[in-house]
Amino acid sequence: MNTLLLQPSEAGRAAEILRSGGLVALPTETVYGLGASALEEAAVKRIFEVKGRPQDNPLIIHVAGPEALEEWCREVPETAYRLAERFWPGPLPLVLKCRKTGDPPIPDRVTAGLDTVAVRCPDHPATLEVIRLAGVPIAAPSANLSGKPSTTTARHCLHDLSGKVEAVLDGGPCRVGLESTILDLTAAPPRVLRPGGVTLEQLRELLGAVELDPGLVKPGETPKAPGMKYRHYAPAAQVTLLRCDSGETFRAYAAGLPDEGTAVLCWTGEEGGFPGKRVLAYGRGDEPEPLAANVFAALRELDTPEISRILVRCPEEAGVGLAVVNRLKKAAGGKILCM
Ligand code: TXA
Ligand code: MG
Repeated sequence: MNTLLLQPSEAGRAAEILRSGGLVALPTETVYGLGASALEEAAVKRIFEVKGRPQDNPLIIHVAGPEALEEWCREVPETAYRLAERFWPGPLPLVLKCRKTGDPPIPDRVTAGLDTVAVRCPDHPATLEVIRLAGVPIAAPSANLSGKPSTTTARHCLHDLSGKVEAVLDGGPCRVGLESTILDLTAAPPRVLRPGGVTLEQLRELLGAVELDPGLVKPGETPKAPGMKYRHYAPAAQVTLLRCDSGETFRAYAAGLPDEGTAVLCWTGEEGGFPGKRVLAYGRGDEPEPLAANVFAALRELDTPEISRILVRCPEEAGVGLAVVNRLKKAAGGKILCM
């Protein structure tokens, strides 16, 4: 299959491909999504095949606005509308009871047979246009091969998906750079199942009590978002995530690793002091937004055959830093080394 590279002005073409059951990688503010009409069971099945995604991992549906909540969900609490008003379009899918009586309904393949569905309104003009023109909800996981870092540019989508999907819509690099905050509104108080671009602090400011899913904080707990239990976001190289209070400690640890095959992912302004090693900076330690925007692209850039080990300096967990650390920890096989 020849994968088309579409421009934002070709949203109509993308919508047509989706309506006829094809797959299109779409830009969002978080990461690129691998989209299909959520109502076309065969197209949704292809998403799982193309990504190599486990069947028990449900997909988020992407919609044009809050009016879609009532259409695809039931027992929608008033909180959902307050959240949508404040954060949509934006990186906040809401997990709600799925209305199974639509005509046609959302197929079980999208929700992996769960009683709930995650609904998100993405903040990207081209993709919002595609959703409106397609006139159907768009099921879209991140547009990467399962297990690999998510894609934040059209070039990275083509790297993983070229020849396997009908088109990639090039909407430029993703602003947030890592996936959305999944909020479960069927739990009381609401629960964050995956940290992301909307921070816990922002949610608590609006709603008061908001919990983190125990699967995110306690070792051994099964996470409620099925996708959070898999090894994920990982380059081929072994990733070591090091939390330490000074650049000096970080450099000293790096010095103990062999030069050959080692890459260092450090903070901006601290690139010196790693003689003989491949060095890449992904942002300043005290500014989580740029770190989030760069982290996946940086892991992909270092994912070359010559690199077998990547040492990463762990940022603070405040704000979107919580999501950055969550993804890096997964890339590192669940461990943070503290010094
Ligand atoms: O930012 C994002 O959310 C991106 C863009 C493309 O929108 N999408 C994304 O999709 O990250 P994906 O499939 O890579 O991750 C979706 C996560 C998975 O961990 C999945 O298990 C969880 O959402 N999820 C989906 N539906 C769910 C539900 N009903 N209940 C709990 N978790 C759900
Ligand atoms: Mg994903």
